[in-house]
Formats: sequence, structure tokens, C-alpha cells
Amino acid sequence: MAKITASVYTSHVPAIGAAMDLGKTHEDYWKPLFAGYDFSKQWMKDNKPDVIFLVYNDHATAFSLDMIPTFAIGTAAQFTPADEGWGPRPVPMVQGHPELASHIAQSVIQQDFDLTIVNKMDVDHGLTVPLSLMCGEHDPVKSAWPCPVIPFAVNVVQYPVPSGQRCFNLGQAIRKAIESYDEDIKVQIWGTGGMSHQLQGARAGLINREWDNAWLDQLINDPLACANRPHMDYVREAGSEGIELVMWLIARGAMSDIQDGKVTGPAPKLAHRFYHVPASNTAVGHAILENA
Ligand code: DHB
Ligand code: FE
Repeated sequence: MAKITASVYTSHVPAIGAAMDLGKTHEDYWKPLFAGYDFSKQWMKDNKPDVIFLVYNDHATAFSLDMIPTFAIGTAAQFTPADEGWGPRPVPMVQGHPELASHIAQSVIQQDFDLTIVNKMDVDHGLTVPLSLMCGEHDPVKSAWPCPVIPFAVNVVQYPVPSGQRCFNLGQAIRKAIESYDEDIKVQIWGTGGMSHQLQGARAGLINREWDNAWLDQLINDPLACANRPHMDYVREAGSEGIELVMWLIARGAMSDIQDGKVTGPAPKLAHRFYHVPASNTAVGHAILENA
């Protein structure tokens, strides 16, 4: 059967993708940020999954105010990196895994989560920047991402957004779905976006280092309490875009210490943790948890 081997958590700032694409990673501003991912790139090579289930948010690229799915699963064979206004990033096409994605859709919908099934979708920085950070730079013509990716888009852009608790519960359902897939494959689940940042209004530029680190401690060590936080905590403490962090709870809820809303197994191993300010307008957080 398929199993979840690890979860990866990372921010997704578009300027990080631009820094990589334009050869700026060795500039003083960016060096400390990319140094935090040196471990992760080696870890990806040493722990190559067969599939990545990548929880991210679309930024009015594939979706718009015309149509706002709360949870959307990408079931296509391929996803094209989107043009976000500066031309598409020069990164490889994203290969999907339609068989596993369809199985997960079937299982999760039967577990009473109403997913939107998306058979055609471009993917923006929310998905490609975490892949670049974890996999390193690419020659877009010659190379490919290391494995197929199932994009799972969460609406954290237009209110109302899903609660942390609902995201956490959904993670548990996704784990059941993956573990009932009849093929011996290794799956990683990634939660992306965050950490504290606000791009608009009177509080634009807000960063809350103390809150971010306390939240990350809680996500790792007391995920049930972390899941229970109301969405206004995120907005108040981490800024209007800090709400992207609820996506990390989907990945955390899918880890093997959690079952039926309780801690039932050994805690996952923290393989790596990193935090850095600033990257564009955003605090960057990153962690890797391996299942025991
Ligand atoms: C920035 C951060 C984001 O999460 C995003 O989606 C767009 C821009 C920023 O910090 O510039
Ligand atoms: Fe974002």
C-alpha cells in the first residue's frame, strides 16, 4: 500500500522564484535565505518520494472571483507553470498523477469533504516556488521535477476561508485515502504558504517573528491545540496573508501520530527547521517532519 513518509512545510514568496530564475541567489540579501534550504535539497535527494501531494494556494491565477473552490484537487496528467504577469517561470512542466489523485478524490469525498475536481489548471508561485526551494535550480529544457506532483489548492485568498480545524481534519482524511491506495509507493505531503505577512492596507509589511516561532513549535509538538486556533488569530497576529498557514495543518494532520482527532502514535522526527526574515514582504518558515 502507499504510505506517507514525510511532510514538508515552506513559505512560497514569488520573489524567491525570481531570485533563482535570475541568478541572484548568491547576493547578500538572498544568501541567508537559500542557506536554510541547503539541508533540504540534499534531504530531497536522499529521500526521493514517488509522488508529492502539494497543498498550496492559487493567487487569482487559475481561479478568480468568478469561481472560488475551497478545496480543489488537480487530477490532470500535466500542469503548466502560470504566467503571473512577467511570463511563465522557466521551470519544468509539473507532471501529475491522475490515478492516485482520482483515488484520493474518491476516498476523501466519501469521507464527507467536498472537493472540487480540476482536470485543467495552471499552477502559480504557490506551487512552483516550494518545488524550486526543495529541488534546486533547473534547466527547464533538459530537466524535470524529481517526481509527479498532485496539486491541492486551498482558498485562503477570498473570505470565507476554511478553518485550521477543518484543514487538520482534511489532512487525516487524505492520509486514509493515500494509505488505501493499492501500490507500494512513497508519498510526501507538503503544506506551503505563510508565515506572517500582510501585503495590503494599513498594516502592510507586518511580520511577527515571536508569534511565527511559537506557532511552529505548536504545529510540531501540539498539533491538536494548533488546529484549534480560530482563523482570526492568524489574521490578527500573522497579518491578512498569514492565513496561508492553515494549509500547513493539512500536512500536519496527515502525519502518522494523529488518528481520529487524537494523538495515537509516536511524534514524527523533526529533520530540519528554519526561519528567516525578510524575504520580500514575508517571514519565511520551513520544517521537515519524518514519520516515525
Ligand atoms: C509576497 C508573498 C506572498 O505570499 C505572495 O503570494 C505574494 C507576494 C511577498 O512577500 O511579496
Ligand atoms: Fe501567497
